Amino acid sequence: MSVIAFAPDAGVWLLSTPRTSYALRIDATGAPCHLAWGPLLTLDEAQEVATAPAPPVSSFEGRPVGDELPVDGGTMYGPPSLQVRFADGTRAFEWQPTGHRVLEPAPGSAELVLEFRDRVHLLRVALHYRVHGDSDVIERWTVLRNDGDAPVTLQRADSAAWTLPFRDGYRLSHVTGQWSSETQLRRETLPFGETVLTSRRGITSHHANPWVMLDAGDATESHGQVWSAALAWSGSWRITVQRTPDGRAGFTGGAGHEGPSLPLGPGEEYTTPVHAGLYCEGGFGAASREWHAYTLAQVLPHPREIRPVLYNSWEATGFDVDEAGQKALAARAAALGAELYVMDDGWFGARRSAEAGLGDWTPDPDRFPGGLSPLVEEVHRLGMRFGLWVEPEMVNPDSDLYREHPDWVLHFPDRTRTELRSQLVLNFARRDVAEWAYGWLTRLVGDHGIDFLKWDMNRAFSEAGWPDRADRADEVWTTYVHHVYDVIDRLRVDHPRLRIEACSGGGGRVDLGMMSRTDQAWPSDNTDAADRLAIQHGYGQLYPARTMAAWVTDVPNQFTGRSVPLRFRFHVATAGVLGIGGDLSRWSDAELAEGAGLVAEYKRVRHLVQHGELHRLRAPGEHGPAATQYVAADGSETLLLVWQRTPRHGSPSPALRLAGLDPAARYRDARTGTVHSATVLREYGIRPELPPGDWASAAVHLIRVVPPIEGGGAAGG
Ligand code: GLA
Repeated sequence: MSVIAFAPDAGVWLLSTPRTSYALRIDATGAPCHLAWGPLLTLDEAQEVATAPAPPVSSFEGRPVGDELPVDGGTMYGPPSLQVRFADGTRAFEWQPTGHRVLEPAPGSAELVLEFRDRVHLLRVALHYRVHGDSDVIERWTVLRNDGDAPVTLQRADSAAWTLPFRDGYRLSHVTGQWSSETQLRRETLPFGETVLTSRRGITSHHANPWVMLDAGDATESHGQVWSAALAWSGSWRITVQRTPDGRAGFTGGAGHEGPSLPLGPGEEYTTPVHAGLYCEGGFGAASREWHAYTLAQVLPHPREIRPVLYNSWEATGFDVDEAGQKALAARAAALGAELYVMDDGWFGARRSAEAGLGDWTPDPDRFPGGLSPLVEEVHRLGMRFGLWVEPEMVNPDSDLYREHPDWVLHFPDRTRTELRSQLVLNFARRDVAEWAYGWLTRLVGDHGIDFLKWDMNRAFSEAGWPDRADRADEVWTTYVHHVYDVIDRLRVDHPRLRIEACSGGGGRVDLGMMSRTDQAWPSDNTDAADRLAIQHGYGQLYPARTMAAWVTDVPNQFTGRSVPLRFRFHVATAGVLGIGGDLSRWSDAELAEGAGLVAEYKRVRHLVQHGELHRLRAPGEHGPAATQYVAADGSETLLLVWQRTPRHGSPSPALRLAGLDPAARYRDARTGTVHSATVLREYGIRPELPPGDWASAAVHLIRVVPPIEGGGAAGG
């Protein structure tokens, strides 16, 4: 079956991925209408869907849910994906097809472009659909171009709208949160009406993340149909999920929240971010694995790399950094097995607290008399890479930069400049501001041989004005993000070995847009291992462990005051990209020795965590231990992580049934040497030995000893 097929007589388009199909057609009015999104279909079957009789409508109904990009105007009464205002005041768009293109953007990928214009005005709309041979994710976006001679205002320009097939009920899965409790998974019946998930903060936000998963209420972790989509966008965004009384459901999503609009002058073009969608059978677990595989195959810049074990100084030193202290920590971090040493906030300008210095990106001579080079060289000499914290989009009013350029921040002329964390947001939408940031960043990285940047962004927008561009001030919401992307992209080109961590006060800017140009993300400032289990559970619904930085920090935890054993903290952080964030100068010899052993243990299994397939065996919060499993794609090895908060006498201790194993094989426990049959592990499960008491944990590494029998031969190991 070809990947993109067309039935010209019926006007039906069919896009197929390895296991799914997506079909649409151009209807009699010229509008692109949704037909199908689900299991594989033939072109004949897609046409059959197109001929199904539509239910009768009254004069009070409008176009039903099911346009590929619902437009404001006519009889469309649901949430519009495209809302335009023409110079003559007209506020409606009428579709007129003008052509189509089928492209091969890369080997193994195919792209359909459906082209339209407004029936009267020369506003062009192109709907893009891209499919890949190695993924069921379909990428969609929209390009708007004003070829007329009068300006057009885009009041809403979503990337795509998605429609679900009829089901008796629908359920919505998504994440909510706040600073230091990001990505809390919610799974709730989809209410009738419109459910809005959004960020108005200028960043992706800690409070919601731009993805949704919908099912008919019957999907489980391992069974059932799930429809999901994620926006590749790192600024404000909105996804509106709609469920109508006639039994339909769908959603539209794109950049921006309500209010700001985008001017589109004659000759100007606007490309929306990608909205990627996935239909999946096999429940939420399979959906997550598909998203992880897609992120590795199509999104991350260096997906095959093994992320190093990092040490970060933030929780150890706060702002109190200097050359001697950092060198001492670096020596201990290296002895522990760290491979990347990251100096956090406090190294520049007058930065001794959150009150001053942001914007003045030269090392403080009192703390670093010889500049950064002696520390970088020492870290390199210790065999580690050197990483540095930066927050390029921010300025403290108490800084030389602000004293020189008070007009560089987001502001309105007559409004308060509201400070959060004593800082203001630099207007990255201004070319000169973005150029300034690019200039000092590329010099800093190049001059010092910096291997890694932790790119932070520590406050939400407020008074997001741009007085110099009063006529187009709303552009700030999108241009800002594009310029952040642009600076990061240019840095990567200048310094191909540079790796970047996306951080925004923890998980305030975790999304596929940021992931496509960074190497890992900091999911939360909250490093309490128990809280982290829930945060990681929500994070991993969409994003892969390969991107999920996780530190082991000191107890009592700075956020919760809770104390849990070092081993438990390590085992929680082992679920992602392991890092250490404790004050190593205070670790006892016994703790350092135990830590070194656990770092070494992580290095033996991290290829499974970072590149294997994730199976969530028991969610945190469920009665009994939480557990996840990572399996090599070829079934040759697996890692089982188990975390028990508080045992209760008499409660069942469930055997954990493992997934993804080679059915013909036996597996040896790398620690105990015990050999298990895959059938027993799969059907009857394993009960890892947990020490008695609270906060017990285990990491079980199983390695295949009997390869599958091919041609009658069997080898033992
Ligand atoms: C943010 C980050 C922290 C740390 C501090 C430094 O809060 O999320 O990890 O880097 O900034 O000020």
